[in-house]
Amino acid sequence: DSAYDFYGPHQAGIRTPPQDHLVLMVFDVTTTSAAELQVMLAKWSAAIAQYTGGLAVGAVEPERDLAVPGDTGEAEGMGPNQLTVTLGFAPSMFDDRFGWKPHRPAALVDIPAFASDALTPGYTGGDICVQACASDPQVAYHAIRNLARMARTTAATRYVVQGFGRASAGAGQTTPRNLMGFKDGTRNITTDDDFEKFVWVGDDADQQWMIGGSYLVTRKIHMLIETWDADFIGDQHAVFGRTKVQGAPLGGAHEFDTPDFAAKAADGSPVIPATSHVALAAHENNGGVKILRRGYNFTDGIDSVGRLDAGLMFISYQKDPAQFVALQSKLGASDRLNEYIRHVGSGVFAVPPGLSGAGDYFGKALF
Ligand code: HEM
Repeated sequence: DSAYDFYGPHQAGIRTPPQDHLVLMVFDVTTTSAAELQVMLAKWSAAIAQYTGGLAVGAVEPERDLAVPGDTGEAEGMGPNQLTVTLGFAPSMFDDRFGWKPHRPAALVDIPAFASDALTPGYTGGDICVQACASDPQVAYHAIRNLARMARTTAATRYVVQGFGRASAGAGQTTPRNLMGFKDGTRNITTDDDFEKFVWVGDDADQQWMIGGSYLVTRKIHMLIETWDADFIGDQHAVFGRTKVQGAPLGGAHEFDTPDFAAKAADGSPVIPATSHVALAAHENNGGVKILRRGYNFTDGIDSVGRLDAGLMFISYQKDPAQFVALQSKLGASDRLNEYIRHVGSGVFAVPPGLSGAGDYFGKALF
């Protein structure tokens, strides 16, 4: 039941080794008043500091009978449970509404459409993204629920995704599996060098307020599970370019063996198919581009025709959303995995750096 620091140079919940549970909520800001937005962000910032310390905001059980509880109470006594709450601003925040236009980073533009997209408005867009991760689902939900409650009349909830079972690995963690049964997160960003190079916005940023921040890309990806479950194992291996149980690159023996994209089979075809997911996504084949993946498995029950409604809440962090766009342009066009997935939601958010301490709040430099 440990706690992560909320204050620091970077927001927690990015480099933090992925906790087991996610609740991600996207809000539409409904007020047109910059002052109201500012108050909400200040309240949220102070509240998140409390929640990550395992504390409530306001009384769960006020002394006066007629007082409404400040905190909803369901996390009372549960402790911090490694809660992190990470916040980002969508491009739409930098329109004319709040006077933020001059502060818009050039990199913050909507993700373009890709071949194979099947986006639904209900899981796309929005103004502010809040990602809560914790080792307990109720603690993550409590934080999000109370932030939503605090925001009423200023911001409205657009959508929420609850993720169970991390589908990525941080430094020192064993690699978990996604709902297709494959290890996910084997070749992820872990070193200081890679974080500087690929994740954190550096001193050369066009907008000073983003230094130490990052960009979040979300893709709600539905899996066609019944179709996948009927596929034969040889094809499943070819789709990812890795084996299922070991997670070894095809042609290799162990999970962390370096994939050999040049290796040829007896018939001259590549051992790792060129249209496999890893061949298309690997940095070796993309001019060195890497992203930090921090996704979660999700299920929304059953769809309108009785199929399992489940998939991957893909979450990536990068110093420029163009890194994601470069990879997804290739994946969207040629990935063998496309037969088994549909991207139904999309978002891009500028994630400011961490807060310096009490009194500092998200967006302070923008007002
Ligand atoms: C690697 C699954 C979507 C980028 C992998 C691996 C699996 C996997 C099993 C191999 C193990 C690993 O290195 O982590 C999936 C599934 C997806 C999905 C099930 C959708 C439901 C995406 C998307 C992107 C992406 C949308 C980015 C646009 C990558 C990258 C790697 C990777 C960069 C590492 C490749 C390497 O260096 O070998 N993914 N992925 N994935 N995936 Fe995905």
